[in-house]
Amino acid sequence: MEPDNLILRAPVNDDERKEAAALMAGTDPWITLGIGREQILTTLQDPFYETWFALTGKEIAGVAVIQMKGACTGYLKSIAVKEAWQHKHVGSRLMDLVEEKILAVHTNVFLCVSSFNTSARRFYQKRGYEEVGVLKDYLVKGYDEILMRKSTGPVLASDPGE
Ligand SMILES: CC(C)(COP(=O)(O)OP(=O)(O)OC[C@H]1O[C@@H](n2cnc3c(N)ncnc32)[C@H](O)[C@@H]1OP(=O)(O)O)[C@@H](O)C(=O)NCCC(=O)NCCS
Repeated sequence: MEPDNLILRAPVNDDERKEAAALMAGTDPWITLGIGREQILTTLQDPFYETWFALTGKEIAGVAVIQMKGACTGYLKSIAVKEAWQHKHVGSRLMDLVEEKILAVHTNVFLCVSSFNTSARRFYQKRGYEEVGVLKDYLVKGYDEILMRKSTGPVLASDPGE
């Protein structure tokens, strides 16, 4: 069952960012990819990205990181839910927020998922994401990153013939 007191908000300090970095570093795909807590913390501290937390009380139950500017806009960089809170719709609530933010200004949400992460691939597929490409050996040799897209329509929405 979904936690009844779930709050979605941005981090307020570095202690929270450290807690979220530990959450992510302690689970796959980051373990298999060899991406450690310090590297993740650097991303969470980088103002280039937007970080969102799902909190139950003071506990960070989930984290999502999005990229709204630069070469690849409307990109979900990372999402993770603490193991104890998985399958309770925390990830769905974070994805609802991410999609609301991105689709307010773009017609596509992009993300990459590791080829071995079958569980997350199913999660995204269920939310309407399509696999649109394969980045071979992208982060680590032997594992591909699958590019996925959810679209609300073409980027150039108006029909020039009309
Ligand atoms: C993938 C992840 C973010 C999903 O978050 P979650 O809170 O566990 O997912 P939810 O409870 O919101 O699930 C939403 C729906 O997806 C389904 N789902 C979730 N995980 C699933 C799984 N492993 N296999 C099949 N379906 C799954 C649920 O059944 C649910 O369906 P419902 O709405 O009909 O009940 C979470 O499991 C996670 O953090 N995994 C580890 C980190 C990771 O892989 N991140 C993605 C990196 S690209």
